[in-house]
Amino acid sequence: MRVHVHQSAEAAAAETARLISETVRERREPVLGLATGGTMQPVYAGLVAAHRAGLSFAGLRSFNLDEYVGLPPDHPQSYRHYMQVQFFDHVDVPPDRIHVPRGDLDPDDAAAAFEAELAQHGPIDLQLLGLGRNGHIGFNEPGAPAGSRTRQVRLAPSTIEANRRFFDRDQSPPEVAVTMGIATILEARSIVLLAVGADKAQAVAAMLEGAIGVACPGSLLRRHSDVTVILDTEAASGLSGD
Ligand code: GLP
Repeated sequence: MRVHVHQSAEAAAAETARLISETVRERREPVLGLATGGTMQPVYAGLVAAHRAGLSFAGLRSFNLDEYVGLPPDHPQSYRHYMQVQFFDHVDVPPDRIHVPRGDLDPDDAAAAFEAELAQHGPIDLQLLGLGRNGHIGFNEPGAPAGSRTRQVRLAPSTIEANRRFFDRDQSPPEVAVTMGIATILEARSIVLLAVGADKAQAVAAMLEGAIGVACPGSLLRRHSDVTVILDTEAASGLSGD
């Protein structure tokens, strides 16, 4: 596992965008695993800037980690919509190569369809990940089985609270999602995890220096041979270095 600590969140996001751009440039038909969340917005801005400077995403195929159950693709708080606004609207990726679990279908059917698409078009060359404040990856909350695959999950109360900021005051955030499983994530050829800010420091320390186990889903990434963790100094502030 490589750990890169940057002086600022901007620099951490810029390195993340650069690693993704390199994968896209090197491969004729790159397969990316993509993530949402506030952390990733500057990463997509960096990729859009790379596109304006000449990088083509025409050969890209993308698989998003997760989606809220109950939200249709055009719902303003759906992850499918987030991806459209942050990234897809601004680049040349063909719409039929975009895969996001469907929040408006039966969750078991949506999960099975997503796994089938991944089996057909994978493996993922580079999986982008954020980190939840409780150490979750995708929506694999503490306790999620290491062998889990794409499935319906119930969100932890702290995750529902953390996501409330993206919803209007009169809307309650969804409590159920479809997420890629931990085993699904670990099948990617390479993984890049980006975490910034002091509120991730505890989860980062547990991921990198705590016990490897389901109590901190991020720690299970230490079983993968090609993982780059990109942090700013605040997110790295809980590390002892031992
Ligand atoms: C959400 C997403 C994760 C994301 C995480 C952190 O719940 N499902 O994929 O990495 O929380 O989000 P943020 O970047 O907004 O802190």
